[in-house]
Amino acid sequence: MSEFKPAAWPRKLRSTEWFGGTSRDHIYHRSWMKNQGLPADLFDGRPVIGICNTWSQLTPCNAHLRDLAERVAHGIYEAGGLPLEFPVFSAGESSLRPTAMMYRNLAAMDVEEALRANPLDGVVLLAGCDKTTPALLMGASSVDIPAIMVSGGPMLNGWFRGERVGSGTALWQMSEEIKAGTMSQEDFLEAEQAMSRSSGSCNTMGTASTMASMAEALGMALSGNAAIPAVDSRRRVMAHLTGRRIVQMVKDDLKPSDILTRQAFENAIRVNGAIGGSTNAVIHLLAIAGRVGVDLTLDDWDKLGQDISTIVNLMPSGKYLMEEFFYAGGLPVVMRMLGEGGKLHRDAISVSGEPIWNDVKDVRNWNDDVIRPVDKALTAKGGIAVLRGNLAPRGAVLKPSAASPHLLQHRGRAVVFEGIDDYKARINDENLDIDEHCVMVLKYCGPRGYPGMAEVGNMGLPPKVLRKGIKDMVRISDARMSGTAYGTVVLHTSPEAAMGGPLAVVRDGDMIELDVENRRLHLDISDDELAGRLADWSVPQESPVSGYIKLFHDHVQGADTGADFDFLRGCRGSAVPKDSH
Ligand code: FES
Repeated sequence: MSEFKPAAWPRKLRSTEWFGGTSRDHIYHRSWMKNQGLPADLFDGRPVIGICNTWSQLTPCNAHLRDLAERVAHGIYEAGGLPLEFPVFSAGESSLRPTAMMYRNLAAMDVEEALRANPLDGVVLLAGCDKTTPALLMGASSVDIPAIMVSGGPMLNGWFRGERVGSGTALWQMSEEIKAGTMSQEDFLEAEQAMSRSSGSCNTMGTASTMASMAEALGMALSGNAAIPAVDSRRRVMAHLTGRRIVQMVKDDLKPSDILTRQAFENAIRVNGAIGGSTNAVIHLLAIAGRVGVDLTLDDWDKLGQDISTIVNLMPSGKYLMEEFFYAGGLPVVMRMLGEGGKLHRDAISVSGEPIWNDVKDVRNWNDDVIRPVDKALTAKGGIAVLRGNLAPRGAVLKPSAASPHLLQHRGRAVVFEGIDDYKARINDENLDIDEHCVMVLKYCGPRGYPGMAEVGNMGLPPKVLRKGIKDMVRISDARMSGTAYGTVVLHTSPEAAMGGPLAVVRDGDMIELDVENRRLHLDISDDELAGRLADWSVPQESPVSGYIKLFHDHVQGADTGADFDFLRGCRGSAVPKDSH
């Protein structure tokens, strides 16, 4: 049984190395801080708390975080700490090119170095948009000072002509309708106005909502954090309470390594299955586990998620949006139900310093169509299916709850796109030799190939197939897929094509077998033929020669281990490497 024993208080804190003395350097550190109007007694040895803020107007989902940072600061002052807000690189999903994922590791490095180099005893992590949550958790885990997350919260429901408009999900649906000729461009532009109704992150169970749920399930945020809408006053209360809590966490010395245990990751994987969470969580949790030294593998996702039913009826798998999830009781209800079913490590410690079960055991479900009882689950077997075979020796993933049941076992002729530009150039060609029984294959969109592993795995179908009323086909790539997307889409195929994985040598006309029940992904050619093709293969792309993109290219690891940089795995602690003071 996990148990956390608080440290003795009072004691000397890390920040006193900077502020707690009368030497020239102590005076230097304090005096410059005081130019912000801070009274002298704030440097009396009290906990100094960083508010690590991913606010940016270029990350619209996080553009309201300055307000929340103020609420956090109120809570920190109230509990007797000194709050100091600082910005870090903000990886906004909707605008960053080539893809926000290329910058997740950069942001994580920024967070890690900022935490270690500054006079901080603890940190509140303010995140929202997809990559900001894992980046902050990764960076904080590698420093291992007390840390707690507060999310920005989702946008309110979008509504268009009486229907819910789910962030991302509606965009993918409507763009397919345009191609099929069943929606006009004018209606599409009108719907655009209804998509993003308030501050906040995507209102579907996309990657942002999934990662906020993962933070809560891991125990790294206060219970109830994930679902409160961004503009609900209770989101501000959550920020305020988080500020209060971090001060006590510093006094108790409750660190990420106390919370992010193997049990915590197992809880999070099961929660992901129950909420119908994004496939992106697979990569991010593997990366976070790599930072804290928990031996988590792709197979854990399959094993632990297999018998979990998807009970949260949210788009893209279901019908509702995050606002309704909050009104129904949010993630604590899901965790309570998992716990009652024996699918939760009840004694895993959260930021509360207590077993996570204590936070959720008494909550009620206020809408059992939004959070369904297990016997009315959306999908009896949720979770993430990890496929293997000669096409994916190190694994590939598929989200059964977002796939079409009739395609989960399928054999089809490969139609190959040699990269995203090739796909874009040919997909709308009426002469493309393709029908709904084919398997669409997209190469060179993995971590190194794209670069950054873009969310293009759910490639849109060809117009001539869409016009028949067909909405799904089997698609295979080394890319990711937006958490708001859906379809029978095989993702994260590893090793990726750009690293010489078998995906690189698939040819038009090859037959491919997908068998989700038996977790199999097979290219139907002989072993000799496959070996011969791989021997003839060479990298078709030029390698970058300078800049961050070179660092990324040279050091990013495969999706099967979290796409972190090889030199960033592990916890390096909070000691300043070479202190000249
Ligand atoms: Fe930022 Fe979806 S684009 S949360």
